[in-house]
Amino acid sequence: MSEPAQIKTIIRPVDARKIGRLQAVPNPGDLLDELEIELDEHSEDGQSLRRAAEQLRSSNIPVSFPTETVYGLGADATRSAAVKGIYKAKQRPSDNPLIVHFASLNQLRAVLRSRKHANGHTNGCNGDNSTSDPIPDIYKPLIKKFWPGPLTIILPNPPNSPLAPEVTAGLSTFGARIPRHVLALALIKLADVPVAAPSANASTKPSPTAAEHVAYDLDGRIETIIDGGPCDVGVESTVVDGLSQPPLVLRPGGISVEQLQSCPGWENTQIGYKNATEADSQPRAPGMKYRHYSPKAPVVLFEAGKEPPSVTGLQQFTGPNAKLGLVRTKSWRFNPKDDDNPISSSVPADVTAAVDVAKQASHFATGFAGLLDTVDSAREPKKALQTHVMQKGGLPVTLLDISLGPDTAGIARGVFAALRELDSENVDAILVEGIDDAEGETAAAIMNRLRKAAELNIAK
Ligand code: TXA
Ligand code: MG
Repeated sequence: MSEPAQIKTIIRPVDARKIGRLQAVPNPGDLLDELEIELDEHSEDGQSLRRAAEQLRSSNIPVSFPTETVYGLGADATRSAAVKGIYKAKQRPSDNPLIVHFASLNQLRAVLRSRKHANGHTNGCNGDNSTSDPIPDIYKPLIKKFWPGPLTIILPNPPNSPLAPEVTAGLSTFGARIPRHVLALALIKLADVPVAAPSANASTKPSPTAAEHVAYDLDGRIETIIDGGPCDVGVESTVVDGLSQPPLVLRPGGISVEQLQSCPGWENTQIGYKNATEADSQPRAPGMKYRHYSPKAPVVLFEAGKEPPSVTGLQQFTGPNAKLGLVRTKSWRFNPKDDDNPISSSVPADVTAAVDVAKQASHFATGFAGLLDTVDSAREPKKALQTHVMQKGGLPVTLLDISLGPDTAGIARGVFAALRELDSENVDAILVEGIDDAEGETAAAIMNRLRKAAELNIAK
């Protein structure tokens, strides 16, 4: 079958405050409220969301939408042709399973009970008379504490599952999460189908944290990008497996092992992922075995505590463009007056304790209520790119420098965008100042992604 040579990609800005009325309706006795939406059909924002929801339901071309972690590339998880559209647009190997996104627990339960129409309606007249909750008890404390939010749980995929087999890539389990983003929730709610969505980057590229990143990677491959501004968290969700004994963290994200361990049944949670620098055994989360998050230019990662390169060190990384990208984080300073060592390492006096994403109240206010209040929360300004030309010894080298600052949550929000921005400047290499992954789970998540992106790792 031939396909249209080129699809027209449109970025549709949608302001979460203008889509209509969202309300958290208490669900007595359940772990989470029910989210209700009264879409404003007259606002352009409401109409854009409605159209995107219709595409999700009927088209085989995926739709990109924002979540609190990164932009997702969504498709109706119950239709094989639609799910295949994701793999095609991303050019992603199809043995890598996808996370399924839900807007309510009842929508998730409908899949676990393997009803044909997994739309979450439980009005009792559809032949479903099971009274026991199909959500495994082990996950309930986590759901109560972290959903909606950046946590993905691994669940058994029931016999006769309504999920397309392409979602699970042949596994007997599937990953599920309820995202903490008004537009994501509203879209899933309107589409009324479970939405399979990996990050909306081309396979191996850095995860997109803004609509322009998605457009850069997938222009001509998808029709619609819902633009809800930059993502709050910046790294993908924590993936946990509570079906194994002991429970495992399969992918690090914003929720720490300590936070998981504070939940009943999760006291012995172990780390089940490996970093790229460790010897590779059979990966448990299939997605963790591929090279990931890489821009075109090679990334040179300096582990935390490693001295920054001198000017001659910098020159060694340059190529035909005599141009280098630099991403500074906690302690590297740039001093244009020092010809030999323009980058120094010092911890300034004013660095207070780093703010871990996981400790930011806004991400973990329980349930939907806090989420609806934070719709218009302040956005991070884009980090400025500075250009320095270093003249020392022979050829001048241009250094394009982005400082993400010392705050860990800010680094998480900005790191993928920084890699993309420097890549678009055609630098020969991108040097990155790493951070200490022992600081917390957000730091571990950032370093996990950077080690995967790095061509060269300058170890301590
Ligand atoms: O934050 C996120 O989770 C983003 C946004 C869009 O929600 N989504 C995302 O999806 O990162 P994806 O498909 O790029 O990542 C899926 C991860 C992979 O590491 C995959 O191996 C793992 O979850 N995974 C999915 N299903 C699994 C399963 N049944 N067993 C083990 N790991 C699974
Ligand atoms: Mg991804």
